Amino acid sequence: MITENSNSDHNLDLKGTIREAILQPMDTQAYSTWLEIDLGAIRHNVKAIKRMTQTQVMAVIKANGYGHGVLQVAQAAIQAGATWCGVARMEEAINLRLAGIQAEVMVLGYTPPALIPEAIHHNIHVAIYDTEMARVYAEKGRERGGKLRAHLKVDTGMGRLGMNPNKAAEFLSDYKDHPVINIEGIFTHFARADEPGSGSAEGQLKIFNQLLDDLRQLGLCPDFVHAANSAAVVNFPQAFFDMVRPGIAIYGLHPSPETRLPPSFKPALSWKARLTSVRVLPSGHGVSYGSVYVTSGNERIGVIPVGYGDGYRRENGQQVLVGGQCVNIVGRVCMDQSMLQLDAVPDAKVGDEVVLLGSQGAATISAEDLADRWGTINYEVVCGFADRLPRLYKNK
Ligand SMILES: Cc1ncc(COP(=O)(O)O)c(C=O)c1O
Repeated sequence: MITENSNSDHNLDLKGTIREAILQPMDTQAYSTWLEIDLGAIRHNVKAIKRMTQTQVMAVIKANGYGHGVLQVAQAAIQAGATWCGVARMEEAINLRLAGIQAEVMVLGYTPPALIPEAIHHNIHVAIYDTEMARVYAEKGRERGGKLRAHLKVDTGMGRLGMNPNKAAEFLSDYKDHPVINIEGIFTHFARADEPGSGSAEGQLKIFNQLLDDLRQLGLCPDFVHAANSAAVVNFPQAFFDMVRPGIAIYGLHPSPETRLPPSFKPALSWKARLTSVRVLPSGHGVSYGSVYVTSGNERIGVIPVGYGDGYRRENGQQVLVGGQCVNIVGRVCMDQSMLQLDAVPDAKVGDEVVLLGSQGAATISAEDLADRWGTINYEVVCGFADRLPRLYKNK
């Protein structure tokens, strides 16, 4: 069954930004373009990661579940055995709690001090990577009352967020048995785990393991240790520790061209549309803004209701699938519409399904294919889908 993600009776706004989505049965015939997300594939991929790693799984579902729809992905991942959800921001974490997600939830990025009372109230783990930050969090927590659950993030080579490892022992000693902040975990993040030949992740692991040894000797090591993103799940079993933090792999997408998922993983997302017009234009007819494409004879030109307002790119040389065949997008991509050259599919008619990402018959356009064409990575492709694209769910 396919379900949709909006029902205005049940939507819930918090500070105008946070929405709870309730799933309702729906019919794809009612849509002209939509993302189709196979929750069975998400469950399958999470189970595969659990089997590979034999450790706890934090499903990384920031940025609306990498564009797939955060609540539906969270539910599927938890059903499949993920015990933690990882997000980038506190608003995302609170959204999960308001939707009734009871798994452990962690904010991997920065939390503004003003939201520390919310973190305590909703039992959300925060990342701490700076002594001043910890001092302010402690103050906020003391005012509110209760315990703040935190993980120390150390920078072993990513050069982004993280405490210098040589400051960690002093910090953890200052916060041992602290009345407000409970440092339950310690973690790091890899810069190049998808490049196994680079030696980079091994170097980071060496620093991290040395730190863990030192902390253990001092009796300061937090209970819970984690490091591995999807690429490390594939390449570095020695980085599994007490939990892995896969994002891209749970959606069935490859961490990079060098680090591919095992073949059993399944991509969860397809992007589909319907032909909204099919016409034969005479020779010499311009197609779309700027008439950069001009017909060179009688040409069958189709229209799909998809454009850069949906997260498609305004680029030349793109293709989609119609009738199981690859056809060219011709003329400029508009905000809401794009034109197709349909001479190779003479039977194509209004209402027929077009695949922008996914499979049709024997043909497939993957997120990696789109990323290649757009000069980016599959992560950016799926994160770039506009909110207005309906997300429809299969295999709930
Ligand atoms: C701290 C942290 N852990 C885990 C992940 C998941 O990474 P990936 O999607 O490559 O598995 C991310 C994503 O960027 C992250 O920032």
